[in-house]
Amino acid sequence: MTPAAVDIAALDRDDPLAEFRKRFIVPDELIYLDGNSLGAAPVSVAGDLADVVAREWSQDLIASWNGAGWFALPQTLGNRLAPLIGAAEDEVVFCDNVSINLFKCLHAALNLRPDRTVVVAEQGGFPTDLYIADGVLGQRAGMSLRLEGRDGHTLEDLIDEDVAVVLINHVDYKSAVRRDMADLTKLAHDKGALVIWDLCHSAGVMPIELNGCSSDFAVGCSYKYLNGGPGAPAFIHVAKRHHDVLRQPLTGWWSHAEPFAFSPDYERSPGIKAMLTGTQPILSMRAIVAALDALEGVDLNAVRAKSEALTDLFIALVEERCGGHGLELVTPRDAAIRGSHVSWRHEHGYAISQALVARGVVGDFRAPDIMRFGLAPLYLRYADIADAVDHLREILETGTWRDPAYAQRSLVT
Ligand SMILES: Cc1ncc(COP(=O)(O)O)c(C=O)c1O
Repeated sequence: MTPAAVDIAALDRDDPLAEFRKRFIVPDELIYLDGNSLGAAPVSVAGDLADVVAREWSQDLIASWNGAGWFALPQTLGNRLAPLIGAAEDEVVFCDNVSINLFKCLHAALNLRPDRTVVVAEQGGFPTDLYIADGVLGQRAGMSLRLEGRDGHTLEDLIDEDVAVVLINHVDYKSAVRRDMADLTKLAHDKGALVIWDLCHSAGVMPIELNGCSSDFAVGCSYKYLNGGPGAPAFIHVAKRHHDVLRQPLTGWWSHAEPFAFSPDYERSPGIKAMLTGTQPILSMRAIVAALDALEGVDLNAVRAKSEALTDLFIALVEERCGGHGLELVTPRDAAIRGSHVSWRHEHGYAISQALVARGVVGDFRAPDIMRFGLAPLYLRYADIADAVDHLREILETGTWRDPAYAQRSLVT
């Protein structure tokens, strides 16, 4: 069926996930296509946090560390997330941010392969992953980084018996290319290497089978499709088979076997708690409770099916209605190897995305020339996609994006 013939209203009417939109605050005046940067606020989060402040903090004070479960939040939240990423009980903790968690995981993984000298990563991966890899390798003599896109064409070309760890973004933050977790994990394992998956752009928006793929380590943030809020703590997964030998260098007291013994000597906690470091931002942690509540009962296969349908529709409508204006699709056309965002390259992408924002269509821009639109299936309607494309068409046809005001760069894009 051509996009013009698609019955958008019927798609929304028959959407099995339509009810989930009520669990989020989506401002009426916005078409929010940036849930892959900052997810929408769950409806329950404001009341929940107000109660945390008014009761747990203001009234109960220090008793809340035990009474309200604050101290155990990294594990209790991790156990709630685990089934959504194909992990087992006691394999996941929430803590810190992705960068710090990656630092810990990289060291831990390298400690498991002491005789090997190479880390493989993607040149196009999210920059913090590369910066952290660089920092970690700088602390370990004789190590080097091999990058897909710089030192070889594909990851397959780069993984050999010297490789200790392969760090892979499950979904690329710019192009939305989705990697095959099972195949690449097996490829690394066949050469004796370990894998670390960065799940930032896939957690919460598609089924993930970390244990089904025999993954070793994974990190991810909770502020995108998990809707945990700005700066929400990230998570770490480590497969149980590595827990007995889990050594990471940020050995703070939250990773101690007996933190309240206050011993001067460090003794590593058994299990996944060994990946913790110090005190966590409890208010932000508590917001993740509401975020996970909003996902309660969700079928990630249905989320994935809608994500594919939304991204398919968006691509088809843009190509039908906005042709001839220099937009180049960066995202794979094949839904099977695509995440839940769609990116278009355009020489004037920044100004066009600003002109869209001025009309209430919020996507984002990734330098130097990529307009990125995150399609979060739990709170977006098919009609939103069609309306967004109409705004884009009008902006391109009328040339309103040429207004010099839209060329002014702001710090966060
Ligand atoms: C793929 C990926 N990894 C890592 C990060 C950054 O993580 P953090 O700021 O939590 O360290 C992002 C942020 O958008 C990301 O998209």
